[in-house]
Amino acid sequence: MSKASADLLCFSGLRGGYGDTTVLKGIDGGVREGQTLGILGRNGVGKTTLMRLLAGYLQPFSGEISWKGKDYGRLAPFKRSRLGLAYSPQEQVVFDELSVADNLVLHLDSRDLSRYAPYLQAFPRLKERLRQRAGTLSGGEKKLLAFVRVLAEGKALSLLDEPTEGVQQENIDLMADLLRQRAAQGAAFIIVEQNLEFLRQVMDSLLVLDHGQCVAQGRAAEFDRARLAGFLHV
Ligand SMILES: Nc1ncnc2c1ncn2[C@@H]1O[C@H](COP(=O)(O)OP(=O)(O)OP(=O)(O)O)[C@@H](O)[C@H]1O
Ligand SMILES: [Mg+2]
Repeated sequence: MSKASADLLCFSGLRGGYGDTTVLKGIDGGVREGQTLGILGRNGVGKTTLMRLLAGYLQPFSGEISWKGKDYGRLAPFKRSRLGLAYSPQEQVVFDELSVADNLVLHLDSRDLSRYAPYLQAFPRLKERLRQRAGTLSGGEKKLLAFVRVLAEGKALSLLDEPTEGVQQENIDLMADLLRQRAAQGAAFIIVEQNLEFLRQVMDSLLVLDHGQCVAQGRAAEFDRARLAGFLHV
């Protein structure tokens, strides 16, 4: 198994927020091909805001984001998508009025579900509900649906905002397996997570946020479970 080490996405001095409220006060980080960067922090510290900045749904007040060494500038989200970025937000992850199957093919040229075969095999609950309105799924099942869609997209980098929220433990373990398989093929991920076991299974490096600032950053091996849990205590 060979992992390329080229820088894929890099951000520095990232400041951003809403109106005249600064949420992020200068964040540096990045991720390489085949690597997973975890983002950890208590509620309201700015994790989702960081994801929105990286995805292009929010413009930074200042700072830089680069893609393969080139300035990402203020590229619109669809242009970032063309370059190879996928984004699965924390909330409103599926189209409730569409069927599960339609949610999976919406962004594709054809209605062919074959690319989803391994995922539907891993998560039979989704397969059983293909014809059902996505709005009838539980919160955790919606998260799984969004996860499957993003993984099958096969983008170079996927941003996942709390993908395991509400998902059953056995499925969380399967999600970790599927993520590691994609990473072994060279895909990169930036994942906001509160589930420490999941995070420990998938992350290569970690960035910890508190009050809009980075309070710890490093390789996965530098963070045992107790240290991780300490960052979530108030
Ligand atoms: N659209 C918005 N307009 C104004 N303020 C916002 C908006 N979205 C988030 N905020 C504020 O920005 C701060 C950071 O929110 P953010 O959603 O980035 O935190 P988070 O770390 O993702 O939290 P959580 O763990 O609850 O998902 C919070 O104080 C929040 O109230
Ligand atoms: Mg959030």
